[in-house]
Formats: sequence, structure tokens, C-alpha cells
Amino acid sequence: MTPIISPELDDYIESHTRPRPPLFDELREATYASMTSPQMQVGRVEGTFLKTLCALVAARRVLEIGTFTGFSALCMAEALPDDGELLTLDIDPEATRIARSFFDRSPHGKKIRILLGNALETLRTLPPGSPFDLVFIDADKERYVDYYEAVLPLVRTGGLIVGDNTLWSGNVLSPKAPSDHGICRFNDVVNADPRVENVLLSIRDGMMLARKL
Ligand SMILES: C[S@@+](CC[C@H](N)C(=O)[O-])C[C@H]1O[C@@H](n2cnc3c(N)ncnc32)[C@H](O)[C@@H]1O
Repeated sequence: MTPIISPELDDYIESHTRPRPPLFDELREATYASMTSPQMQVGRVEGTFLKTLCALVAARRVLEIGTFTGFSALCMAEALPDDGELLTLDIDPEATRIARSFFDRSPHGKKIRILLGNALETLRTLPPGSPFDLVFIDADKERYVDYYEAVLPLVRTGGLIVGDNTLWSGNVLSPKAPSDHGICRFNDVVNADPRVENVLLSIRDGMMLARKL
């Protein structure tokens, strides 16, 4: 991921954002020590922003596509009430093993349920009728539009769909790889969709927020 702002500004932003509890430093270290692409983790500022979004929509039910080692899930779970629930989907047993070990150590971990498997297939098994307040899409970029179309009916009116990496290191300006095109398609589909109101933000690697109308 190529940073879109200077490292100095990035440090300033981080030092003026409420720090995460120490467990998150351990999770970051464990991820960097054991995973081949640790930079996939959302990081402290975006994680805190996700928690803030969950609090703003008074989220009780959250869906995440792309658990990895659990950083974003644990941030969002902090904003949920004790009887709230966060479902998080991933296909990687090793990454989710690490996630589970950290969820077990957090007072908020009991709100999180990991569903292991191909996310599109898992989504088809989710029962309708218990809508989500917020959905965070952060898995394979080629399928972002498929995820978006699958989750929109599962989100309550006024709920949020958040897509991560929607500037994709700036590659949206001259897409080449399939993942570049996947992100561009997602941004175009959301931007033209009358069912939502959207804003594309330059936080970290880009975040698309779509509020269901
Ligand atoms: C960018 S990482 C998620 C980072 C995570 N949100 C965090 O903050 O730590 C993307 C994750 O999507 C998962 N993934 C990729 N393709 C998938 C698929 N088809 N179904 C489910 N998970 C998938 C990967 O295994 C990976 O853990």
C-alpha cells in the first residue's frame, strides 16, 4: 500500500487520535511476526474511525467481510452493546486462528462470531430478518461489487456499508490489475446507486461510505 499522505502527517494524525488499548499493540506485533502481508491490517486510526462509525449509527449488529487477524473486528466490537453481535467472514484458517486468540483475551470478544469459508457462499447462508446496522467490506477486491449487492438487502435503512481500500494506492486513476478494476467498478456502482448516499474519503487507503436510503 502506497501512503497517499506524507509519513509526517500520518504520524501527526496518529498522535492526535485516541490510542487503542495495549492489546492492539500485541495484535499488531503478532500479525507482523507471523503473517506474510501484515499491512492488510487496518491500523489504529482507521480502526478507531470504524469504532466511531459503529457508535454513530448506534450499531447492535455488524457484518465484516475480511477478518484477517481481527484488528478491525475488535475495534468495531468495542462500540457494540453487551448483547450486540459482530459476524466476521474469512477464508483463511491461520489468520482467523490468531484473531480468535485475541478475541478470547478481550472483554468485547464474546460479541464476535467468526464464519470461516468463502464469503460469498457464507453470505448466502445468512438468514434475512435481522438487519445489520453496518457492513465493512475488506476482502478480495475483485468481488467488492458482488459483496455490495449481496449485503445491501441485509442492511437496515439508515445503515452504512463501508468499503476499504477504495483509492487502492491511487491505482483507481489508471487501473491495470484485476484488483484495480474491482475497486473502480465498486466505486462507480456505489456512486451511481440511487438506493444509497455515498462519500469517498481519503482516510488511509481510501474508504467509501454508503448510507442506505
Ligand atoms: C485486507 S484483509 C482484512 C483485514 C482486516 N479487516 C483487518 O483489519 O485486520 C483481507 C482478508 O480477506 C480474506 N479473503 C480474501 N478472499 C476471501 C474470500 N473469497 N472469502 C472470504 N475471505 C476472503 C483474506 O483471507 C484476508 O484475511
